[in-house]
Amino acid sequence: MGKILITGALGQVGGVLSLALQNQYGLDQVVLSDIHDRGVHGTFELLDITDIERLREIIQKHDISTIYHLAAILSAKGEEDPLWTWDLNMQGLFNVLEVGKEKLIDKIFFPSSIAVFGKQSKLIKSPQSSITDPSTVYGISKVSGEYWCQYYHNKYDVDVRSVRYPGLIGYQTLPGGGTTDYAVDIFHYAIKDNTYECFLNKDARLPMMYLKDAMRATIELMEADKEKIKIRTSYNLASLSFSPEELTLEIQKHKPDFQVTYKPDSRQQIADSWPNDVDDTQAMIDWGWRSEFTLKTMVADMLHNLEIKYSQQTINS
Ligand code: NAD
Ligand code: SER
Repeated sequence: MGKILITGALGQVGGVLSLALQNQYGLDQVVLSDIHDRGVHGTFELLDITDIERLREIIQKHDISTIYHLAAILSAKGEEDPLWTWDLNMQGLFNVLEVGKEKLIDKIFFPSSIAVFGKQSKLIKSPQSSITDPSTVYGISKVSGEYWCQYYHNKYDVDVRSVRYPGLIGYQTLPGGGTTDYAVDIFHYAIKDNTYECFLNKDARLPMMYLKDAMRATIELMEADKEKIKIRTSYNLASLSFSPEELTLEIQKHKPDFQVTYKPDSRQQIADSWPNDVDDTQAMIDWGWRSEFTLKTMVADMLHNLEIKYSQQTINS
C-alpha cells in the first residue's frame, strides 16, 4: 500500500483527520497538503488543488495511493463569490478524479454535505435517495460532485467513496466559513466570555456530528471491502440533531451563567433549506456505520477538552 495524501489538510476537518490517519497508519504514511503552510506535525507539501501537474508530482514523489480530498469552499463563504467557489470545488475534484482515472492512485475520499438538500427535499429524516435542490453554490458543487464521483466509478472504475457530513463539531480546530459554524464558536464563547450572539435562530435545528465520530466514519468507510460500497454518489450520515437553544441548554448544565442572544443573518436562510436530520440506514446496512456520541456526551467532551486547551494557553503565555 502506498501513502495517503490529504488536500486542504489545514482546515477544520483536515486538522483532525491528519492526526487520525497518522495514528492509524503511521506518521510517515501520511502527506499533508494545503494552499498555504502553517507549520504542521508530519510531512507537508504546498498544493493548490487546481494545479493537476503539481498534484501528479506529489503523488509520484511520495508514492501516494489514497487521496482524502478535503479542499473546498464551504456554504456561507461560498456565497460571497459563487463563481470562484464553483471553480475551486469542481476543478479540485476533477483533478483528483482524473489522477484516479489515470490509475496513479487507488482510492479517493470525497466529503459531500447536508447542503445537497433543499426546500423540496424531505427535510425530516431526509432519505438516502431524495430530491436534492441545493440553495447555495456550495450545495450545487457538492451534488454535482457526487454525480461526477459515481460517473468516474462506473465509467473508469475509480474507487471513490463519499459521505454527506452533517455540521461538524470539534475542539481541535476552528470552522472555515460554514452555516453550522455557530455550534463550534458557542463553546469557545462559553469558556472565554460567558455570552454568545448566535447568527442562527434559536430553533434552527440541523444535523450535526462530533468530529470524533466523523473521523471514525471516514476511516471505516475507506477501510470497508469494495463490494460493500453500494452507493457511489454519497452516503447519508446521521448522528446528532439539535437547535441552538437545545445546545445552549446542554452547555448551561455545565456553565449555568452562560447566556446566548440571537441575531440571525443570511446564514439563517441557508439553514432553512437544510434538513433537521437525515436517514443513514443505508450506511448502517452497507458498511456497519453507528454513531456513538449523544448531545450530552459531545457537550461534556467538548467543554472538558477546551478547558484543558485554554488553561494550557494561559500557562504557556
Ligand atoms: P475548511 O474551510 O476549514 O478547510 C478547507 C481547507 O482547504 C483550508 O485549509 C484551505 O486553506 C484549503 N484550500 C482552499 N483552497 C485551496 C486550494 N485551491 N488548494 C488546496 N487547498 C485549498 O473546511 P473543512 O470544514 O475542513 O471542510 C473540509 C471538507 O469537508 C470540505 O470539502 C467540506 O465541504 C467538507 N464538509 C465539511 C463540513 C463541516 O462541518 N466542516 C460539513 C460537510 C462537509
Ligand atoms: N458545515 C458545512 C457548512 O455549514 C456543511 O457542509 O457549510
